[in-house]
Amino acid sequence: MALKSTSPLQTKAWKQLQQKFEQEKDTTLKSFFEQEKNRLEVFSIETDALYFDFSKNRISQDTFKHLLALAQELDLKDAIQKYFSGDSINQTEERAVLHTALRNDKETHIKVDDQPVYPQVKKVLEKIKVFSDEIYDGKRTGYTGKKITDVVNIGIGGSDLGPNMVVDALHYFRQRINSHFISNVDGDLITSKLQTLDPETTLFIVVSKSFTTQETLMNANTARSWFLESASKSDLKNHFVAVSANEEKVKEFGIDTYFPMWDWVGGRFSLWSAAGLSISCAIGMDNYKNLLEGACQMDEHFKTADFQNNIPVVLALIGVWYNNFFGAETEAIIPYTQYLQKLAPYLQQASMESNGKSIDRNGNKVGYQTGSIVWGEPGTNAQHAFFQLMHQGTKLIPADFIGFIKPLHNNKAHHDILMANFFAQTEALMNGKSKDEAQKELEDKGYSKEKIEQLVNHKVFEGNHPSNTLLFDQLTPKTLGRLIAIYEHKIFVQGVIWNIFSFDQWGVELGKELAKTILKNFKGEESAHDHSTQELINRYKTPKF
Ligand code: F6P
Repeated sequence: MALKSTSPLQTKAWKQLQQKFEQEKDTTLKSFFEQEKNRLEVFSIETDALYFDFSKNRISQDTFKHLLALAQELDLKDAIQKYFSGDSINQTEERAVLHTALRNDKETHIKVDDQPVYPQVKKVLEKIKVFSDEIYDGKRTGYTGKKITDVVNIGIGGSDLGPNMVVDALHYFRQRINSHFISNVDGDLITSKLQTLDPETTLFIVVSKSFTTQETLMNANTARSWFLESASKSDLKNHFVAVSANEEKVKEFGIDTYFPMWDWVGGRFSLWSAAGLSISCAIGMDNYKNLLEGACQMDEHFKTADFQNNIPVVLALIGVWYNNFFGAETEAIIPYTQYLQKLAPYLQQASMESNGKSIDRNGNKVGYQTGSIVWGEPGTNAQHAFFQLMHQGTKLIPADFIGFIKPLHNNKAHHDILMANFFAQTEALMNGKSKDEAQKELEDKGYSKEKIEQLVNHKVFEGNHPSNTLLFDQLTPKTLGRLIAIYEHKIFVQGVIWNIFSFDQWGVELGKELAKTILKNFKGEESAHDHSTQELINRYKTPKF
């Protein structure tokens, strides 16, 4: 069954939120803490070795109730039920959205087109296990009998970002295999990468749900030509495998070993599917299974916790509050671990490709803001890059801080410094430093009156900058699974609130089509372009400098 379609603007809760915003928009975070003595108890959730503190948000407890009422009024419960049951909620593509079924070995009753999905999922997981074990054990070798040492994932978008982020994040758990990712069609990437690889010991996993993606096919062809410089066509089978929902195209390309994906798994949610093959080759099947299990635990939490204690729901509603009432354009993701350096790019696709929509579920233009801009960098690097703007700039940037109590190394001194910064930043963002405090500090340092007058305003931190803190025990496969699932479900909830279709991506098509036409123009075919584009093409074809 389809998702219900109601504009959030028509709800009673939205109107009440507008009133609350007018009343409370200038209330400071500090005064919320003063007025609401039990604020932290109400605005924190603890589950599965995760403490989620959302008390540092510009939201009163009363406003929070209206946000929860908004979710009720838009029948989020019903939407969640349809999301997990395999209903065709990706309506524009007439597909179910079942990445959650890929990580659930308990609820085996879910069907798509009357076919149970669990046996298919189990079979593919088994195939992934056998394959990655054989690579690891050296049973599956290269064409000269040497062990595979390097696995190269060729894919783009969801066929790259998820696996790439996870392999990076779980580097600590890696096996003997070296992992590489080739996504961009920019020849620099594949050329420089191939220079470091040995065809005898390299395995290419070509990942493309459609198996028609221009960049991936180009890169796969280049890799094949490079391989064939040293080996013969009959050796290809030892070195090229494919993950796709398009078996026919895989065969056409000439790859025998094929891992299926299904159309009910969206590209940007496919790391849980066979697109995770490069993950299991990198960290082993047991760790990959733990990743799935962690995500499944969060699915259970999302399905069963009441909204006020439901981490993805609360995160989503906070995002709606800043996006639609405060007019915040962006949200920052700041993980305090270098291992999560690719989390922000991954979430950019997951969130912005899902909720970057302006047509609602009735086919009308929305009259409100939808998906916000996601960006970020690991702390503490981020502190030395863009935190100046967050602390003293003119923009409102809600931020999620993600930290881990226990490090994966034994160097406590490093971790203490990292975590001291982690806690200090959200404290500084919220509390700031008043003019009196800044003045006193300068006086204590012995500055002259004139110098103090010149400096004091520059030393003031207005504070009142909101943040969420997600404090986990340790960055393990299970924890990472939970973390990813939190954001997947946050994205889903926001799509429900904004009354948009989160699981299609028509907006990426136009540029792809035009690129195909321009490629033909390079080869001599004529077509009409605007003046600017035509001149740029001409200058590429016939350089003037
Ligand atoms: O960027 C558009 C998109 O369709 C993404 O949704 C997808 O993850 C990516 O291209 C790659 O698609 P495919 O897996 O079919 O090559």
